[in-house]
Amino acid sequence: MAATITMITSGKGGTGKSTVAVHLSGQLARLGKKTLLVELDSGLRSVDIISGVYGRTVYDIEDVLSGACEGSKAVVKSPFSDNLSVISAPVSGGAVETHSLQLFCQRMQPYFEEIVIDTAAGLEAPFRAAAAVCHRAVLVITPDPVAVRDGRVVSDLLYDCSITQPRMVINRLVPERLRRMGIPDLDWCIDQTAARLLGVVPESETIALCAAAGEPLPETCRETEIFCRMARRLNGDECPLVLDSY
Ligand SMILES: Nc1ncnc2c1ncn2[C@@H]1O[C@H](COP(=O)(O)OP(=O)(O)OP(=O)(O)O)[C@@H](O)[C@H]1O
Ligand SMILES: [Mg+2]
Repeated sequence: MAATITMITSGKGGTGKSTVAVHLSGQLARLGKKTLLVELDSGLRSVDIISGVYGRTVYDIEDVLSGACEGSKAVVKSPFSDNLSVISAPVSGGAVETHSLQLFCQRMQPYFEEIVIDTAAGLEAPFRAAAAVCHRAVLVITPDPVAVRDGRVVSDLLYDCSITQPRMVINRLVPERLRRMGIPDLDWCIDQTAARLLGVVPESETIALCAAAGEPLPETCRETEIFCRMARRLNGDECPLVLDSY
């Protein structure tokens, strides 16, 4: 086993990277993949709450990257799935160095099939380090002109880092709001960002409430089906997008 490493990224903050990272990882785990989700952020963590491990973590990714503890000590099982483990971001501080992240990934890869790295917004150290270690990238945008433009900047930088085919998730879609936001249609977002569409997630009360409570999405609902298909598509399955009501 040598895990495939996927980074979750965005230019603009708050587009839903952590939310997508948790539910995509949850669905990879449900498909039987042993999955490790790492939040590579500091000070503004959220994966611990969304993935239901809040209060259960002793060590964080900063402890691991700085050499203060072994990676295995920071791994916590998520209640979402037996196959899903999480390493949280630190409460504050912590520099992310590419070399340390490379070493960490090399050590963890034999134990997992998927490593998902949820990065901080922007193009700073966590972005650069994750781009250096990942095999593939998922860009999360919201359908608004700022997120789309920033998404293009990220897409170009990924290309420079040899990630030539980033995938894209359009999150928090409210179809009737698109035109008023200056977005002609979803194809426009795809053209502008030059990223291949992985999935479209609607604005969803279910997603927001589950995130706040640290609970998995219900077993059968549209949102679950959307993330399940994203996980399958990420691994090369040609299943269609859930686009029925857009
Ligand atoms: N599809 C959705 N429907 C409703 N709410 C959502 C959806 N996606 C994300 N949210 C909400 O948006 C907020 C920001 O999401 P999240 O923390 O995942 O963004 P982020 O990109 O990781 O932010 P940051 O850049 O700070 O790391 C959260 O309150 C989350 O619950
Ligand atoms: Mg986040």
